[in-house]
Amino acid sequence: MPTMSSFLQKRPTHHPFSNPYALSPRFSSSSQRPISIFSRSGLIILLSLMVFLGLLLPWTGMPQFMFQNTASSLSKWRDYTLPEAVSFVAKNGTVIVCAVSQPYLPFLNNWLISIARQKHHDKVLVIAEDYATLYKVNEKWPGHAVLVPPAPDSQTAHKFGSQGFFNFTSRRPQHLLHILELGYNVMYNDVDMVWLADPFPYLEGNHEVYFTDDMAVVKPLNHSHDLPPPGKKGRTYICSCMIFLRPTDGAKLVMKKWIEELQAQPWSKAKKANDQPAFNWALNKTAGQVDLYLLPQAAFPTGGLYFKNQTWVQETKGTHVIIHNNYITGFEKKIKRFREFGLWLLDDHVLESPLGRL
Ligand SMILES: *[C@@H]1O[C@H](CO)[C@@H](O)[C@H](O)[C@H]1NC(C)=O
Ligand SMILES: *[C@@H]1O[C@H](CO)[C@@H](O)[C@H](O)[C@H]1NC(C)=O
Ligand SMILES: *[C@@H]1O[C@H](CO)[C@@H](O)[C@H](O)[C@H]1NC(C)=O
Ligand SMILES: *[C@@H]1O[C@H](CO)[C@@H](O)[C@H](O)[C@H]1NC(C)=O
Ligand SMILES: *[C@@H]1O[C@H](CO)[C@@H](O)[C@H](O)[C@H]1NC(C)=O
Repeated sequence: MPTMSSFLQKRPTHHPFSNPYALSPRFSSSSQRPISIFSRSGLIILLSLMVFLGLLLPWTGMPQFMFQNTASSLSKWRDYTLPEAVSFVAKNGTVIVCAVSQPYLPFLNNWLISIARQKHHDKVLVIAEDYATLYKVNEKWPGHAVLVPPAPDSQTAHKFGSQGFFNFTSRRPQHLLHILELGYNVMYNDVDMVWLADPFPYLEGNHEVYFTDDMAVVKPLNHSHDLPPPGKKGRTYICSCMIFLRPTDGAKLVMKKWIEELQAQPWSKAKKANDQPAFNWALNKTAGQVDLYLLPQAAFPTGGLYFKNQTWVQETKGTHVIIHNNYITGFEKKIKRFREFGLWLLDDHVLESPLGRL
């Protein structure tokens, strides 16, 4: 049984039910000296905290176990299910998800800072692809990470183009389909992204599936929102990196087709596929039956455009919403490029992340 003071010390700095900035700064530093419960101010803090929790708990629907900070809480996160996690983080029927393994934690944190700036971090659910990530995120930010077993082999899951990476990304449509079947809107993001503005106003109309083009060719500002015509390989180059889905039959159909396409064209040494072609074939094959919506290029440019054409960036200044650090591989190169463009927010703004310093 932990003592109350160890509870206080280990208590994550940002609780999901509260505005972290409303708490006294005393609680926002993890390097603070322990507060003794025997001191007068310690007692006062303790009492106010108990009143605070007592008032809020009945309203949050937060599972009680989140307040136990013992070793056994680790095994409880192990049993935390996707339906529980989604119902805990969703706001207004919507969740924002990403899928992350341990090496991507710095990118997760960078992405979260940018989302916190748009005040949408409260509905972020991290789908952890290994137990280390599950425990780390939930330790800092209880309830915001879930692991859908079985965890992929983390040693082999990281190299772009490898079979491990393919296996890892292949789980994505299954997670998304499950969330749709639970009845939620879901936005998926890769974590090598940075939000510069709020994307939600761009999800206009009542379409079923929203996505962005991964083509770097500059389009007119008033380009069509339809699925673009197929490119050289007979298919489109829609990015599987940023997708918004409403829980409709059409959106579920696209996810089912995506899963089928991944199974029909499994990874091979020759092709070194990732999950994106399968997503594009799924869109191609369901286009007549589903209401699809291509988001504007100026707001959601591919990294192949944003990082490579400064003329275009200047011309479209003020219109960019989400920047994707793709068209480059390797953690170090991505970080270097984010730094060069002032988008590696971890350096100076880490405390803006709900995870704090990792
Ligand atoms: C909640 O969702 C509805 C429908 O999707 C939307 O119109 C509304 O603006 C959302 N409200 C908030 C506070 O996000
Ligand atoms: C990927 O998945 C396939 C099929 O489930 C499995 O046979 C293979 O061992 C996995 N490979 C890696 C590297 O994870
Ligand atoms: C975009 O604007 C141009 C010039 O005003 C016009 O000719 C074109 O038809 C427009 N395209 C679309 C898709 O609306
Ligand atoms: C689907 O792909 C085929 C083959 O490239 C193409 O002929 C067809 O126009 C595509 N359909 C749609 C809706 O993009
Ligand atoms: C870069 O952007 C400018 C301005 O939009 C455009 O005219 C030009 O074609 C682009 N260059 C390349 C290489 O795509």
